[in-house]
Amino acid sequence: MNGNARKFYITTPIYYVNDIPHIGHVYTTTAADILARYNRMKGLPVFFLTGTDEHGQKVEKAAIERGRTPKVHCDIMVDNFRNLWKRLDISNNAFIRTTDTEHVKTVQGLLQRLLDMGLIEKRSYSGWYCVPDERFWTEKDLVEGNCPDCCRQVEQILEENYFFLMSQYQDKLIDYIEGHPGYILPETRKNEVLGFLKNNALGDLCISRPKSRLSWGIPLPFDPDFVTYVWFDALLNYFSATRYLVPDADRARLGDFWWPATHHLVGKDILTTHAVYWSSMLMALGMPLPENIFAHGWWTVDGKKMSKSVGNVVDPDEMIDKYGADAFRFFLFREVPFGHDGDFSEDALIRRINTDLANDFGNLAGRVLTMLDKYFEGRVPEPDGVEEDFKSLADGIKIHMDEAMGAVDFHKALEHIWGLVSCANKYIDSSAPWVLAKKPETQGRLRTVMYSSAEALRFLAVCLCPFMPDRTQALWEQLGLEGAVSDARLDSALVWGGLQPGLATRRGESLFPRIERPGAELKAETHKKKERKEEKLKMTEQGIVDVIGIEDFARVQLKVGLVLEAERVPKSDKLIRMKVDTGEERQIVAGIGKVYEPEYLIGRKIVVVANLKPAKLMGVESHGMLLAATDDEGNLSILGLDRDVKHGARVK
Ligand code: MSP
Repeated sequence: MNGNARKFYITTPIYYVNDIPHIGHVYTTTAADILARYNRMKGLPVFFLTGTDEHGQKVEKAAIERGRTPKVHCDIMVDNFRNLWKRLDISNNAFIRTTDTEHVKTVQGLLQRLLDMGLIEKRSYSGWYCVPDERFWTEKDLVEGNCPDCCRQVEQILEENYFFLMSQYQDKLIDYIEGHPGYILPETRKNEVLGFLKNNALGDLCISRPKSRLSWGIPLPFDPDFVTYVWFDALLNYFSATRYLVPDADRARLGDFWWPATHHLVGKDILTTHAVYWSSMLMALGMPLPENIFAHGWWTVDGKKMSKSVGNVVDPDEMIDKYGADAFRFFLFREVPFGHDGDFSEDALIRRINTDLANDFGNLAGRVLTMLDKYFEGRVPEPDGVEEDFKSLADGIKIHMDEAMGAVDFHKALEHIWGLVSCANKYIDSSAPWVLAKKPETQGRLRTVMYSSAEALRFLAVCLCPFMPDRTQALWEQLGLEGAVSDARLDSALVWGGLQPGLATRRGESLFPRIERPGAELKAETHKKKERKEEKLKMTEQGIVDVIGIEDFARVQLKVGLVLEAERVPKSDKLIRMKVDTGEERQIVAGIGKVYEPEYLIGRKIVVVANLKPAKLMGVESHGMLLAATDDEGNLSILGLDRDVKHGARVK
């Protein structure tokens, strides 16, 4: 796809402003953003368009319900979309509103042209009309007398209207779709469209609504008693935006350059309007058709259709507040292949964050940056040779990614990238830099291992940038690289050896802190409460007064500490000496060496008893105690935090 690789023009559907944005809107818009960012990094001029569909009955009805005029309603609602796209780091170059004067003029101009060409006719019409869907149906379309799409009641309507002679394009559409295999994707959807076109007589399209019934629309230029059917108006946005919304410099430089689009991304429910109405409108106007229309699947929520009445509509703002924009973006494309239906649940989202992001990717970055600090004082070392296997895996990723992104297969692209993540983690485990660091004769090998690991991180920052622009920028800066990772060009950036030895790295906060499951937490909490209650009861029954008051507890000063350094205490398999920042730096010795490696501890946040009398363990002074839990079976786990809090914070 993208045969005409001089430019990349991508669109999302324009969204109705009758309601606030949900996961469905986020899905298409983020997909378009990933492709736009990717193609910018390929060096192509990119025009990424999104916007709002503001005319028609749905919007008029929503406005009336809220006691507003339609325009005032649109002006208020449009900000919900604009603000959400900002929060999600959506990099659209333009935002079209179908109430824009320039769009209205373009629609009117094109309607006039079709009329002049004899492709629009006025007819008297009687049909079944579905008000919520704003569509006419024939008698035989109806299912048990109701709308075949939404199953709601239809109304019999008899009126005069204008028709676009769409039926003339039935055979041309079939030929075009068959002759251009990449035009409608995925393949299964293309076959559905072809099946529809081959087995039904394509009717003409009613493109007007009498003003007496609906006034909120673009007036027909040739008949003031009618407004334009909302879909006819909306579909033209993709073209009209190229007339007035392309960035000025580009517009002057590139003239008519932007049309046609590379991809129109749409949900499966609006494929027919795009594949049939839009394509035949373009054929009639003698304009080139887009390179591709891609229909993605739908999200259900916890196995159910998302709906306001069920109350399971996923609020994107809430997801961003809880988990961050990048994790939310990533989840949508890692979890389900684009084109398939998927099921959303917060549990699944947390699982992905904890496994793919915190454990695999985040931990890799944390380990590498910590070891660079520890073994090379935070500098990228000069390697002692090239790690050929690693290099060829990394160098190969550019081709794999390009194939996957060209086919709009985000899932595949992420699979390839995760191949590199897991290879890097395994490479570190098997090379064991902490062992290499101990002997003078393995210092050269240590330099190669650490250089290669850091170089893999640089590759990952570049490859993942379109998916997670914020976190990859953080990683880029932690690696000591200048500028914006999104300014990197794939051709030159994805070449092994690009990382300059000597670069000063800047280890920061962990990229993806682990999320404790709210469910599990809640269960543990109720369980603990029950235990405490039982314990108290037992104690009272036995006359034991071993309970402490809050004032006793308040004497224990617990603080959050950041582990800066960790190493084994010589000749002890149990003790680890740590330098911990609890607001002030202190040395703590803990008996956790049988379960934890020092490298694991560096960079973590722990809970420390800060006002404990200093003690000596195997001759090493400990100023405080780390909190850990142990059970009867000898399992040990240090206490951490489920969300990031500044070190030095009091625990109470
Ligand atoms: N205004 C029209 C599009 C006109 S384009 C010229 C429209 N607007 S909409 O606000 O209803 O947007 C719907 C978009 O969100 C569609 O692409 C639709 O497929 C998508 N989704 C709505 N619910 C969805 C899910 N539950 N899951 C995934 N996408 C879904 O239609």
